[in-house]
Amino acid sequence: MPQNQPQNPYADLFSVAGKTAVITGGSSGLGLAMAEAYLRSGARVYITGRKPEPLAAARQELAAHGEVHAVQGDVATPEGVEALRAALAGEDKLHVLINNAGITWGSSVEKFPAEAWDSVMGVNVKAPFVLVQTFLARLQAAATAADPARVINIGSVYGVTSQVLRAWSYAASKAAIHQLTKVLAAELAPRGIVVNAISPGFFPSKMTHFMISNEERMAEMRKSIPLGREGSKDDIGALALYLGSRASSYMTGNVIPLDGGVLAKT
Ligand SMILES: NC(=O)c1ccc[n+]([C@@H]2O[C@H](COP(=O)([O-])OP(=O)(O)OC[C@H]3O[C@@H](n4cnc5c(N)ncnc54)[C@H](OP(=O)(O)O)[C@@H]3O)[C@@H](O)[C@H]2O)c1
Repeated sequence: MPQNQPQNPYADLFSVAGKTAVITGGSSGLGLAMAEAYLRSGARVYITGRKPEPLAAARQELAAHGEVHAVQGDVATPEGVEALRAALAGEDKLHVLINNAGITWGSSVEKFPAEAWDSVMGVNVKAPFVLVQTFLARLQAAATAADPARVINIGSVYGVTSQVLRAWSYAASKAAIHQLTKVLAAELAPRGIVVNAISPGFFPSKMTHFMISNEERMAEMRKSIPLGREGSKDDIGALALYLGSRASSYMTGNVIPLDGGVLAKT
């Protein structure tokens, strides 16, 4: 750039470079895609997962793009939360917490076990809250007036529509995380922390493998999506980057659909 040219104020508006991010469930699917997007954009990233092998494989794959740490554990348990807290002991600041880890359970009303409420609510709703509590001081330490700290919760269109998937606790858990996003946003705004949720439609992942492996069902699924396709790595990566960057500093308490138009037509 010529010497006396004023610096372009937009140059780093969408940047997450130099930020520290935790992405729960970063060993697969949407979490892995967001981890890659953050690493390629210059952030330091901590990913989590319960199963050691996929977690190690993800860490190895992601290490080509930047500084990544893998923390094994179940975020719905005190031990898992403690493992993550201990892994971040050297970090004074946490700029972005992405509560992405999620599980589902599907069965008829008759056969749906009570246990599928505790496990699904535990991972999809309780863990995001406990992680916000755990990292509150470090989120606050990362916040500046121009660039607040970020909590990004991963909800779902199934927390909004009444389409029957027979995933009773999953649908309720996603509606709950949307509402938790709003009440936390109101509470944490004065502390310089913004809280938003992404509400994805259909993305290929381990969770949706039962659909991807069936061409006929996939064709039907694509027909039901106004944009005619499933979501991609870039789609989720782009929105997660935006919500982690200074560009979204004035947004909080929003549940943003990322669904190819599914909610627009319901
Ligand atoms: N794919 C879609 O179409 C879609 C649509 C709407 C919303 N979502 C949401 O997007 C998020 C990611 O899902 P995905 O589709 O990418 O599924 P996925 O491929 O199954 O990935 C889930 C990730 O979460 C981890 N995880 C699950 N339970 C955990 C726990 N208790 N503690 C720590 N890590 C845990 C998994 O690793 P381990 O199994 O090794 O623990 C994995 O890394 C979920 O919240 C899901 O509800 C997905």
